[in-house]
Amino acid sequence: MKAINLGKNQQIPSVGLGFWKIDNALAAEVTTEAIRVGYRHLDCASDYGNESFVGLGIENAIRKGLCLREDLWVTSKLWNTYHHPEHVELACRKSLKDLRVDYLDLYLIHFPISLAYVPFEERYPAGWFYDPSSPNPAMKPSPVPIADTWGAMERLVEKGLVKNIGISNFSTSLIRDLLSYAAIRPAVLQVESHPYLVQPKLLRYCQGEGIVFTSFSPLGAPSYIPIGMATEKDSAMNEPLVRSIAASHKKSAAQVLLRWGIQRGTAVIPKTSNPARLFENLSIFDFELTVDQMRGIAALDRNLRFNDPGVFCESAFGCFYPIYE
Ligand SMILES: NC(=O)c1ccc[n+]([C@@H]2O[C@H](COP(=O)([O-])OP(=O)(O)OC[C@H]3O[C@@H](n4cnc5c(N)ncnc54)[C@H](OP(=O)(O)O)[C@@H]3O)[C@@H](O)[C@H]2O)c1
Repeated sequence: MKAINLGKNQQIPSVGLGFWKIDNALAAEVTTEAIRVGYRHLDCASDYGNESFVGLGIENAIRKGLCLREDLWVTSKLWNTYHHPEHVELACRKSLKDLRVDYLDLYLIHFPISLAYVPFEERYPAGWFYDPSSPNPAMKPSPVPIADTWGAMERLVEKGLVKNIGISNFSTSLIRDLLSYAAIRPAVLQVESHPYLVQPKLLRYCQGEGIVFTSFSPLGAPSYIPIGMATEKDSAMNEPLVRSIAASHKKSAAQVLLRWGIQRGTAVIPKTSNPARLFENLSIFDFELTVDQMRGIAALDRNLRFNDPGVFCESAFGCFYPIYE
């Protein structure tokens, strides 16, 4: 339960720390503290803009003897502006340098969305806009076949820069297509999943294909409330059922949601920069949800997706770009 087998003698810790929206000013300290309290799985990305600070935190933890590099599972993600095969290795090497590691445990294609290249010197992280300083900034799609990007991802494994490659925000049809040509299969699919977006068919499909399913935003709404993409009423942590299950186990609602995530066989990567919550979110291995509790939580499903490019790309980045429909 504490880790999920990937084969080849590899295991991914089932609880990781997510780094999206962790302030640069805090990221190094949070990283070292997370490793100190027991996190061994760090979910990073070029797009989060804080990899160089996470790298300082990793280096600091190793220097202090809190862990060895090989004890950590470090994930990073290829941003949308680097899908062209000639940019994939450059982007990976930039993340490696920033994270101060000489290999990644996992490198994911962040979205099945390819945008026009933006050189590092011009802007890093590149973000969604092609030219944020233009009078009408907008995304600039620049299609690259996923097969070409995947081929370049496979070269990273062959060169020893990454141990595993995977995908994020992909649907079953895209995965099925990818599996038809992949010489190296995706080890992990990372997608949004929580009790309001259970995704049973996607999980079952991944389990059938031996692809580890990692749930991002495992707490659901809280991450999206401050950025206007959800409201307090959308939070599964306020569900009476979740609160009563939490009370019965003397755990918090957040711990119940995370436990539900790992007990259904997914990895979860909650984000927090709060030291008490870092500990709380990792303390989910000393209780077990009953079959009825697992089913009751799954029945809260509303197919409610907070992180949908088909919605936010149009409202925030001037481009209608659905990917799930
Ligand atoms: N692949 C992708 O496209 C993608 C997209 C989104 C996210 N992700 C990854 O998934 C990670 C997690 O997703 P997320 O950050 O969207 O959402 P999340 O981890 O589900 O929720 C984070 C929010 O919940 C709060 N929180 C954390 N622990 C809590 C607790 N014990 N009690 C109450 N509130 C708590 C945090 O606030 P405080 O920080 O104040 O505690 C923050 O506002 C990201 O950091 C990122 O690594 C990947």
